[in-house]
Amino acid sequence: MTSSPVSSFDTDEHLTFHGASVEIRDLTLAFGEIQVLRKVSLKVAPGTTTCIIGPSGSGKSTLLRGINRLHEPQSGDVIVSGRSVLKDKPDALRLRIGMVFQHFNLFPDHTALENVAMAPWKIKKLPKAKAYQLAADRLKEVGLEQRADHRPRYLSGGQQQRVAIARALAMDPEVMLFDEATSALDPELVKGVLNLMADLCQRGMTMIVVTHEMGFARKVADQVVFMDEGEIVEAGTPGEIFDNPQSARLRRFLSEVL
Ligand SMILES: Nc1ncnc2c1ncn2[C@@H]1O[C@H](COP(=O)(O)OP(=O)(O)O)[C@@H](O)[C@H]1O
Ligand SMILES: [Mg+2]
Repeated sequence: MTSSPVSSFDTDEHLTFHGASVEIRDLTLAFGEIQVLRKVSLKVAPGTTTCIIGPSGSGKSTLLRGINRLHEPQSGDVIVSGRSVLKDKPDALRLRIGMVFQHFNLFPDHTALENVAMAPWKIKKLPKAKAYQLAADRLKEVGLEQRADHRPRYLSGGQQQRVAIARALAMDPEVMLFDEATSALDPELVKGVLNLMADLCQRGMTMIVVTHEMGFARKVADQVVFMDEGEIVEAGTPGEIFDNPQSARLRRFLSEVL
């Protein structure tokens, strides 16, 4: 990816990321009797963006949650930077893999700055002053330095989601997972969050993004993956997936969403 800015966000040199590679091998995951992921395999190169599309219930969220072990897979492997993470402690793994959810999950009784500083201070055990400085830097990066002292309820949905992204970035993740990060936002707020995500991509973060924003997937993704019924049905470049779908299932899905 080139480094030309695509948004109004700050582009200082220290904001370059060193994203890790991610490989998923034959991942199988079930909830009781229900088989949700069936031998899913996927390779994500360092510093690239993979968008996952597909109908509701196809296993997209479960795949993300299998990567950072919010759910435990039955079989298969998840390899980050060349090493299996399935034997790591889930808490340690989640320091390396940031996740952003549809509902921002901010602490309501803490300011934006406190929300971002909390994990570096309490979990990474940075000195408090350092954690707050880092939090201030991250908030600036997402364009919210003026809102540092606001609690979530005094921020728009788009601003809350940018705080959630800053919070994930404050842990210096090697990979960022986004699960429908813009689905709960009012339409006019979607673009700011998508621009921020495109910005992270340009700066070298490795990102796996479940999204319904087909325009974003087409423009920003290096790879687009179509899931249906717990399987990856097709994966390819945005051109391959959107302009030349091979399977009837993907053609049907695209005809419904485009
Ligand atoms: N915690 C859970 N317990 C039982 N079933 C679940 C759980 N989470 C998801 N599922 C089921 O797994 C399937 C895939 O869900 P999900 O990964 O959320 O799909 P998507 O994100 O593509 O909409 C669905 O059938 C869903 O009902
Ligand atoms: Mg989902």
